[in-house]
Amino acid sequence: MTYRILITGGAGYIGSILVPQLLEAGYEVTVLDNFMYDQNSLAAVCHHDHFRVVRGDVRVQSTMLPLLKTSDLIIPLAALVGAPLCDRDPVSATTTNRDAVIDMLKVLSKDQIVLMPTTNSAYGTGDKNNFCTEESPLRPISQYAKEKVEVEKALMQHPHAISFRLATVFGFAPRMRIDLLVNDLTHRAVHDRSVVLFESTFKRNYIHVRDVARAFLHAIQNFGVMKGNIYNVGLSDANISKKELCQKIQKYLPAFTFLEAPIGKDPDQRNYIVSNEKIEKTGFRAEYSLDFGIQELIKGYAMLKNSKYSNV
Ligand SMILES: NC(=O)c1ccc[n+]([C@@H]2O[C@H](COP(=O)([O-])OP(=O)(O)OC[C@H]3O[C@@H](n4cnc5c(N)ncnc54)[C@H](O)[C@@H]3O)[C@@H](O)[C@H]2O)c1
Repeated sequence: MTYRILITGGAGYIGSILVPQLLEAGYEVTVLDNFMYDQNSLAAVCHHDHFRVVRGDVRVQSTMLPLLKTSDLIIPLAALVGAPLCDRDPVSATTTNRDAVIDMLKVLSKDQIVLMPTTNSAYGTGDKNNFCTEESPLRPISQYAKEKVEVEKALMQHPHAISFRLATVFGFAPRMRIDLLVNDLTHRAVHDRSVVLFESTFKRNYIHVRDVARAFLHAIQNFGVMKGNIYNVGLSDANISKKELCQKIQKYLPAFTFLEAPIGKDPDQRNYIVSNEKIEKTGFRAEYSLDFGIQELIKGYAMLKNSKYSNV
């Protein structure tokens, strides 16, 4: 079936990888984004006949309603992403991350499909062995994680919806995010050659941005069996600590040094081992390893350095 897909926030980190893949697969794609990072991340798909782009805000009903009317499937990605950004502007975070999605769900018809990324940040520290499945209790701490949990609850009331609890995403994309853990540590390893780690033994799960896009395509193609469910999406062989992650980066950049010190605290106290068995049982397999991603990032950082106010 050829769906007409609306992606809000489609010019972001995940969207800038997902949109080209959906177009290639033959879907009609409309992106609504406010381009808050001045990003031209979708430049390479503007030539495509089935691509449409609207500059606007998901919180404005008069912008959203006509777009929703002509869409069969919606992927809401527009958000202020991550706990630190939400702390900086809590009002915009609530209105964008929570209210805009809940308002959208209220006006959709039953048959319209919604595929939405949430987060596995809400697992906090898991059970006594730090192990988490989709059934594990959620203990969100930050505003970002709490509102993602509220949105997921509302989403699961919609008859045609899927929630993806994404692991920490990594990999290079046209709209780059160097604030994500793997991307950040690799950036520091390339450009600073050192980092001080806090909570270095805390374990996380990881997923490549291209595998996130593949998970969305997989869900579209297998919607009948997957609908109405929540799925963790991560690499099953990559539940590793920050220290182990640094050791992996060191394999490719031997001059990289890391020290451990109690200089900080993760806002959601993420320390868990996540099971991805449920999505794997639907036939999905992640393809891009952490080793692949680290090498890709090292290549990409030859082009990108966060040095706006430095001559070197
Ligand atoms: N990257 C991850 O590790 C990760 C993990 C779990 C969940 N997610 C979720 O995936 C989604 C996309 O995340 P991302 O990593 O691509 O982030 P991102 O910041 O790169 O993308 C967000 C996009 O939304 C746009 N946007 C922000 N406010 C808007 C508004 N009011 N109206 C229209 N557009 C607006 C931005 O311009 C940007 O293009 C988010 O919902 C995020 O919570 C991401």
